[in-house]
Amino acid sequence: MEGKKRASWSGQVAFILAAAASAIGLGNLWRFPYLAAQYGGGTFLVIYLALVVTLGFTLMLTEITIGRATQQSQLTAYSRLHKGWGFIGLIATVVPILIVPYYCVIGGWVLKYFVTYAQMAFTGAQPMGAGAAESGAFFSGFISANFAPFGYGILFVLGCATVIVLGVKNGIEKSNLVLMPLLFLLALAISIYVVCLPGTGEGIKYYLLPNLDCLCDANGKFSVATLGKTILGAMGQMFYSLSLAMGIMVTYGSYMKKTDSIERCVRRIEVFDTLIALIAGLMIIPVVYMFAIKTGTPVKEAMNAGPGLMFITLPKVFAMLGTAGTWLGLAFFALVIFAAATSAISLYEACVASVCDLLHIERKPATFFTGALICFLSAFSALGYGAWGDITVFGLQFLDFFDIVTSCFLMPIAAILTCLFVGWVIKPKAIIDEVEVDGHPFRAKHFFAFMVRYVAPAFVTAILISEVCRNLKIGGWSI
Ligand code: PHE
Repeated sequence: MEGKKRASWSGQVAFILAAAASAIGLGNLWRFPYLAAQYGGGTFLVIYLALVVTLGFTLMLTEITIGRATQQSQLTAYSRLHKGWGFIGLIATVVPILIVPYYCVIGGWVLKYFVTYAQMAFTGAQPMGAGAAESGAFFSGFISANFAPFGYGILFVLGCATVIVLGVKNGIEKSNLVLMPLLFLLALAISIYVVCLPGTGEGIKYYLLPNLDCLCDANGKFSVATLGKTILGAMGQMFYSLSLAMGIMVTYGSYMKKTDSIERCVRRIEVFDTLIALIAGLMIIPVVYMFAIKTGTPVKEAMNAGPGLMFITLPKVFAMLGTAGTWLGLAFFALVIFAAATSAISLYEACVASVCDLLHIERKPATFFTGALICFLSAFSALGYGAWGDITVFGLQFLDFFDIVTSCFLMPIAAILTCLFVGWVIKPKAIIDEVEVDGHPFRAKHFFAFMVRYVAPAFVTAILISEVCRNLKIGGWSI
């Protein structure tokens, strides 16, 4: 903000923690495991890792550097660099505004599960029903209720607003300092427990060992189309998981000191984010595999549970484990709440920072104003499966609509434009110079320049085309 000292992180560790807190979220704990399960475990892992260290590195470094160079949130950062390209900032601002309401609704679902497991653990009540079979009915009953999903969503937003209002150092940094170590400890403890359960060996193998069978078609022949789908699935996940193409890393980079090494920070953020995703898979996939074998469910069916893996399949597994399962469920959903909250805070902060920069108003009114907008928009997603279920946009529920518009269209578009802007308008040298301002040589600069000019725009364009085809059901793709 002009005329006022801009907020900043207290140091490199705080920045890495904050960016990792943004990156580690529902994407790691909810989305990554079901995608890895669906795309054949180990094979997906290898592809995902390769993408993170190449494409993910390039895009994250670009965004953070743009933020630090301009000292602006995403809304105004691009126009600072070049008047004619300011519209990228506008797209990157719209994305978090559209994502945060539905992200908070899913955060509310997780809160509901946490409360339910707490009830089960401490009072012995059986709100989910005694058997495993009811977990599907419990989930659909909750998300289609008239008010509850909205109420839990609002609670979740209020929690995030409390942190944001306290500011960058006192709110975001401090909450990360508590929540992130807790998250790591819980994740580690749960995964060790799960790995030691008898009967999980096969599932661990499925998850960790690359297996080319999953790239074959029904006749056992290697299929290029399946490989393509796996790569695109991994790429979409990488964007989501690293919080790319939505301006967050620009805003967070703008609070970074000129003395910290951007390259090193990016590598560390990627390591943390990927580690938690890998652990999340280890917590979930082997037990679901074991559950499938024990109950006689075809493994393929269990592995293809999709978004329901965490909310429907996993509670079944917990139910099968009896009392230990209830406590495991409680710990697991506590972990997911921490992860979801720190990510939602980053999304919310990106909106608040833009509002502050644009309207030149203080953090408090900006938080309030943005919070009210988020609650209003989240009503559509929260009630879209229940009271407002009849209202659809292009035949989709609100939540799905917001998800598709952002992750399939706006984010790839913002990413392509950013690459073209950096690669061909301001030129990679502008970014490389800013990276080196801190006195650390940019070791991967030639690789970076090549990626940002040629490879990244080509890859992201492939995502965009495939998403357009998939959503418009062109060429045999179906949702
Ligand atoms: N990266 C977060 C996750 O993995 C999700 C997220 C998306 C956070 C967009 C902020 C912005 O869940």
